Amino acid sequence: MMTDVKIQHSCETENCQNAATLQCPVCLKMGIQGSYFCSQDCFKGSWKTHKIIHALAKGKDSENGYNPWPYYTFTGKLRPFLKSEKRPVPVAIARPDYADHKEGHSKCEEALRGNTTIKILDDEEKEGMRVACRLGREVLDEAARVCDVGVTTDEIDRIVHEACIERECYPSPLNYYNFPKSCCTSVNEVICHGIPDMRPLEDGDICNVDVTVYHRGFHGDLNETFFVGNVKEQHKKLVQVTYEALMKAIEIVKPGQRYREIGNVIQKHVHAHGYSVVKSYCGHGIHRLFHTAPNVPHYAKNNAVGVMKAGHCFTIEPMISEGTWRDVSWPDDWTAVTADGLYSAQFEQTLLVTETGCDILTQRKSANGNPHFMDKL
Ligand code: MF3
Ligand code: CO
Ligand code: CO
Repeated sequence: MMTDVKIQHSCETENCQNAATLQCPVCLKMGIQGSYFCSQDCFKGSWKTHKIIHALAKGKDSENGYNPWPYYTFTGKLRPFLKSEKRPVPVAIARPDYADHKEGHSKCEEALRGNTTIKILDDEEKEGMRVACRLGREVLDEAARVCDVGVTTDEIDRIVHEACIERECYPSPLNYYNFPKSCCTSVNEVICHGIPDMRPLEDGDICNVDVTVYHRGFHGDLNETFFVGNVKEQHKKLVQVTYEALMKAIEIVKPGQRYREIGNVIQKHVHAHGYSVVKSYCGHGIHRLFHTAPNVPHYAKNNAVGVMKAGHCFTIEPMISEGTWRDVSWPDDWTAVTADGLYSAQFEQTLLVTETGCDILTQRKSANGNPHFMDKL
């Protein structure tokens, strides 16, 4: 049974247990979470002690003069940086239902939650997916061109945002369950859902850019992990094995194949190289909805429901880690990082099951100016 549980906060003032809904405006501006007060009086009364948290958040130990979560222990070396304002999308571009929802909920996705029926696309829908995925590929290639030492992930987000608009696409991540940006940028120990910010990419980073576009009613979803400057051999190897794992999984896609087989193929290759498979995030059905049935785990011996049929559309997007498969989330509730702070890589394609196998709808057509061109590995 579903129960509607609203998160309750209690007043931060010592010895005050009142329910609290007012948030400190300074904390809100700085991205500090969890500072709630029951009343203006309590807020004023606590100010002398409360404001210490603002000073802590500006801690000089952080390189970027900003630490929104002074009490949080990071698993690795990466830190959040300030974020730019939300970027607008022209109203003339068709938007998914969550784009204008206060909490970014998708009513059409939620209506089908728990439903394991996999949609079979008709010819018009297949063509809609081909176009959206081709445009998504073009947008990711634009991101690849600028992904380099000294470039901020916010700049990558701006390029992605503008490339979407130029192609009459809404950037699907924007406001999806309140995600604040137009793509995900996941650096080093970030597994997925990294939020673009003002951190300049550093020599030796690996940076995944995950692009999803919504074009005339259909989503196309893909990602790649890029090398930034001179990457250590050990990290290049991780990225290469992740790429290979995705390609091996794609090879088995055809009508009659079980969705649960994909994880067996991926894990076999990954374990042979001493890496681990992230379990918390899976591939997914995609078409008129961003995330829907089937659920596609990347780990072995999973219980995924369903058998592939011509006309199914879904993603495979393995996240492979150097050390533990366990993930934890930053207090922003989006950024998923490895529990041990070691690096993680990912690649993603959107696939359409055909009579004989599958079409990789988000496949790169040529080098397309993309200097990373993993297919050459
Ligand atoms: N593109 C991601 C995926 O592959 C989903 C990102 S959702 C967001 O499924 F809200 F984080 F953008
Ligand atoms: Co996806
Ligand atoms: Co994606």
